[in-house]
Amino acid sequence: MKIFIDTGEINEIRELASWGILDGVTTNPSLAAKSGKPFRQLLDEILAIVDGPISAEVTALKADEMVKEGETYAKIHKNIVIKVPLIIEGLKALKILTEKGYKTNCTLCFSPSQALLAAKAGATYISPFVGRLDDISTDGMQLIRDIRQIYDNYGIKTQILTASARSPMHFVEAAKIGSDVITAPYSVLKQLVQHPLTDLGLAKFLSDWEKAKK
Ligand code: E4P
Repeated sequence: MKIFIDTGEINEIRELASWGILDGVTTNPSLAAKSGKPFRQLLDEILAIVDGPISAEVTALKADEMVKEGETYAKIHKNIVIKVPLIIEGLKALKILTEKGYKTNCTLCFSPSQALLAAKAGATYISPFVGRLDDISTDGMQLIRDIRQIYDNYGIKTQILTASARSPMHFVEAAKIGSDVITAPYSVLKQLVQHPLTDLGLAKFLSDWEKAKK
């Protein structure tokens, strides 16, 4: 499973890249706004750190405008993936962008039917938002299972990018189901490494080592 970080914070991206586990980055308009940087500058800074897919989301709502906006991002660098919302105009834009040879990430997916339509329109990645479904008392990971089954039934190549991940359990479940990618905030990715028995074990090894030296 590929690991993307979901953030607009450059320090977090730099730190994660230094761990050797980072495959790509997702951003969205909220995260970009939070960074306080002009979007072009933010993308340039991310591109300088990560050699992998970097999602840049369009804010236009009409297909032709989405295509135009998406192309301005994609022309910055081959690693830019144009992120398009899962609405009818978004499907139209996905079709055009795919025909033009661009990589796309269809975002704000909350149902298996949406995921099938996005794949048919040509999406490179589908982003089902598991955490936001959990927030409304719906099993977010069941959506990943359903999409995996549907895509596998038809040999669909669109990659499942589990998004809105909020916990290590989302990460582990996504990997067990066979999600192609997960994107998660820095806080969640850091939690994946930590285990109290690792810390206790290391402290014991080091204290035994110190005692033996005396
Ligand atoms: C995905 O691409 C989105 O940026 C993101 O995962 C949304 O997560 P949230 O629901 O925690 O805002």
